[in-house]
Amino acid sequence: MEDDPADYYIAQHSLDKKESNTMLLQSMQKALNKQINDEIYSSYLYLSMATHFQAANLPGFANWMSVQSKEEYGHALKIYGYIHDRGGRVTLDAVAKPPATFKKPLDVMKQVLDHEREITGTINKLYERKGLPHTGDAAMVCVRTS
Ligand SMILES: [Fe+2]
Repeated sequence: MEDDPADYYIAQHSLDKKESNTMLLQSMQKALNKQINDEIYSSYLYLSMATHFQAANLPGFANWMSVQSKEEYGHALKIYGYIHDRGGRVTLDAVAKPPATFKKPLDVMKQVLDHEREITGTINKLYERKGLPHTGDAAMVCVRTS
């Protein structure tokens, strides 16, 4: 059974009161909101790849990209929940349009790998910067390691 990102968001609200009363720095809140946008763009990019593979009659690739798309959306929701748990404010920005056409499957997989390296880099920078109230926070650790 797949994890439902919405379930995780609900679970995040079970943090104890002591932790949930710790506020985010404005700079960190801004960076986390940017990360939500990056994660949703990743989801959108992978969904565009899924539809490309669907049109190319490659349902296995399409399914795999669809699963990756859902995972990225789940990351966005984890950060969404984290900001709220820390008393912050989520601000959603426009999501960039992903490419609609792609090359051969191997080229798409290389593009996915490059994108994963980039998005992991942004998460690692967020995790390492000062301003997280709790550096071992479950939501951030889950996004970083999933
Ligand atoms: Fe992600």
